[in-house]
Formats: sequence, C-alpha cells, structure tokens
Amino acid sequence: MSEMQNIQWFPGHMTKTKRQIQASLKLVDAVAEIIDARIPVSSRNPDLNKLIQNKPRVILMNKCDMANRTATKMWIDHYASQGVTAIAVDCKSGRNLNKFPSAVDSVMRERIERLKAKGMKNPTMRIMIVGIPNVGKSSFINKIAKQNRAKVEDRPGVTRGNQWFTISKNLEMLDTPGVLWPRFDDKIVGEHLAFTGAVKDQVIDIELLAVRLLDFLKKLKPEEFVARFKLENTDLENTDSYELLHIIGKKRGMLISGGEIDTERAAIMLLDEFRAGRLGRITVEMPNGELK
Ligand code: G4P
Repeated sequence: MSEMQNIQWFPGHMTKTKRQIQASLKLVDAVAEIIDARIPVSSRNPDLNKLIQNKPRVILMNKCDMANRTATKMWIDHYASQGVTAIAVDCKSGRNLNKFPSAVDSVMRERIERLKAKGMKNPTMRIMIVGIPNVGKSSFINKIAKQNRAKVEDRPGVTRGNQWFTISKNLEMLDTPGVLWPRFDDKIVGEHLAFTGAVKDQVIDIELLAVRLLDFLKKLKPEEFVARFKLENTDLENTDSYELLHIIGKKRGMLISGGEIDTERAAIMLLDEFRAGRLGRITVEMPNGELK
C-alpha cells in the first residue's frame, strides 16, 4: 500500500500542500497530471486548473491495464475535443511510457517555438508530476527513473534539493510529485475513490460499499464478473444488490456459525477482486456520464 494513501486531508494540510506545489510549479514549464483511468472524473483534483494556471498539461490515464479499452479511448477523444492531450499508460508494466516525451513535446511546441524565435537554440523543458494519492505517481517516477537512471542530475544552487531526470534530449522531470487532494464534497466521488482503494477502508462501511459496487456491476455485467461468481443464471438486474452479495458469499462458501452468510467477508473479497482487476477491465466513469 502506498504511504500517501493514508494522508488525511484537512484545511491546514491542504494549504501547506498548495504552497509546496506552487513553489515547485515555479520550476517547471508544464505539468503531467496522473489520473486513474477507471475513474477519470473522481481521480482528478478540483483545484488543479487554478493551481497550474495556464501551464501546458498532459493527462496520463494510468492503470489502463485495469480500465476498459473502449472507454479509455473515448476519454482520450473527449480530452482531445477540449484541446487537452491525454495518453493511456500502465506504470506497473511500463506500457506506453515511451509515448510520454512526444506527448509533452506536442503540448510544449508553441512555447519551444517562441523561445527558438527569441534565439534560444534547444530550450530544455521541465515538467512535474501531480495527482491525488494512489493514482500511481511514484510508480511512474520509478519507472521513468529506471529507464533514465544514469541521467539523474542534482543541481544544488539552482534548485536546491530537487533532482531532475533527463527524460529525453530536451526534457527534464522533477523527481518529487505534487500530491493533490481529491474532491470531498460529492458522495459519488467518495464512493468511486473507495471502489479503487484510494480511500481507506476503515473510514467507510465496507458492506455498503460492496453493495454500491454491485449496483454498478449488475448493470454493466462484465463477463469476468459473471463467470467468476457463476452468475450466468442469476437475473442480475432484478436482484437486489444486498441479496446479490449474499449469493456471492454463498457461492464462495463464506459462512459463519449457524449457516449464515458472512457478508462482510464477501464484501471484502469482492472489493479486493475488483481492485486487483479480476472482475474485468472496468471503467466506472464515462465521458457522457452514462455509467455514473
Ligand atoms: P501514488 O504515488 O500516486 O500514491 O501511487 P503509487 O505509485 O504508490 O501506486 C499505488 C498503487 O497502484 C500501487 O499498488 C501500484 O503498484 C499500483 N499501480 C500504479 N500504477 C499502476 C498501473 O498502471 N497498473 C496497475 N495495475 N497498478 C498500478 P499497491 O498495491 O499500493 O502496491 P504494490 O502492489 O505496488 O506493492
């Protein structure tokens, strides 16, 4: 589990974080915003636009190995229609990370051309990673660092304490990510973050959460989910989600004394399997809001 996952956001903490990010932003030309491809709405920070102002930005839809391929493509097209560059990446395997430099290059082109017109020959661009806890910021940096280990540079005096990775000829990345806070005001956002494990289980009712996940899964009916719990003959849409949790618990033999179903264990198991991607490649939030 990521350490950052356990951050409790309170106003003082947010103010301090905001200040730290603003200080780091002064050192960079662009921002790479990492989001979770399964929940592209809920895994974004609500204040990022204000924070980064007009700095160019690339969206990295991470964990694309667990998201629905068509949905990810729809999201990328959706961002493109808004003039935003997004790429799908998988920081566990490193898939698509090689697309990162050209994606950054495309959003920086205007600025690079401007600098060149002013006489600067090959201006170096700098970028930093930002994102809410658990989206994969450290995984991204570790992967990039591994690929570029020999090129890590420390530049005391210029940016004391900051390390820069040379990612490509004219692109450097700050080694410490900006940790942002998620949205708190929306119950659905909280639920979706909890589905993915981005919010601590201790602070939520696990059975209720599993029931909410089942509300969603029984409509979507991902093949792997149906097969895994042998639900082929269950009329999913007409089965109450709490009843469905019972059925799933029973199928897995999760009983407590007296023959009752251990719904808490069933809930934990269901969420674990969802989080591990075993119930299929599932995107919970679509650009048109269809699945929300
Ligand atoms: P953070 O810095 O933004 O907080 O996130 P971090 O990199 O710590 O990643 C959080 C969890 O997400 C880690 O799992 C990590 O392995 C996993 N992860 C990151 N990127 C991907 C991805 O593209 N695909 C998949 N499937 N998983 C990804 P963990 O369970 O907390 O730890 P561990 O499994 O790495 O031990």
